[in-house]
Amino acid sequence: MAPSRKFLIHALITLVILGGLGVLGAAIVVLTGVYNVAAIYQHTWPVYEMLDFALDRSVSARLGGIAAPPLDDPLLAERGFRIYRDKCAQCHGAPGVPPDDAGKGMLPLPNNLAQTAREKSAEYIYWVVANGIRMTGMPAWQYRLDEEELWAVVAFVERLPEFSPKEYAEWDRKIGGR
Ligand code: HEC
Repeated sequence: MAPSRKFLIHALITLVILGGLGVLGAAIVVLTGVYNVAAIYQHTWPVYEMLDFALDRSVSARLGGIAAPPLDDPLLAERGFRIYRDKCAQCHGAPGVPPDDAGKGMLPLPNNLAQTAREKSAEYIYWVVANGIRMTGMPAWQYRLDEEELWAVVAFVERLPEFSPKEYAEWDRKIGGR
């Protein structure tokens, strides 16, 4: 049996009232300043989970048309190493190298990218590096690095899970300021 007209009107009014209460609740939270934005407190668990899920969905929805080139060329990884050491390690740290003080004081904490390399695709990492993540402190690099440099740094990040602190220090010595 189709729902009656009266039922539909009541359902609509209920939805409008609930929507209004939602807006009012949000306005109270914003206007009273009750939500603490200090970078020394993590988001509450539901807010954290929601933002983390939304971030993953947002990036994943934008990966169409991106296809990683072959990333196993050692020269590409060496090029990526230099970029990583100069532009990423201060926030994300590196094997045997802690992040700088600024990186340690950020919230969200810049991820351990060895973990990211295990969990996410090369295309996902490329997208985040090229576009950044608004309101987190993760910069967009597409106007600072060219296409090949972006993939080079992705190639290096892909190697992080097997990189030991000793190997990182060796690359640092070997590749040095080049
Ligand atoms: C100024 C600090 C800063 C610098 C410099 C920086 N990042 Fe980030 N990065 C962040 C923050 C903060 C996040 C977001 C963490 C979150 O959302 O939980 C992030 C997120 C990421 C992510 C997503 C991780 C994930 O698991 O979802 C990748 C990949 C990444 N950065 C790679 C890089 C690379 C590569 C560089 C260098 C080219 C770089 N970042 C430079 C701060 C930085």
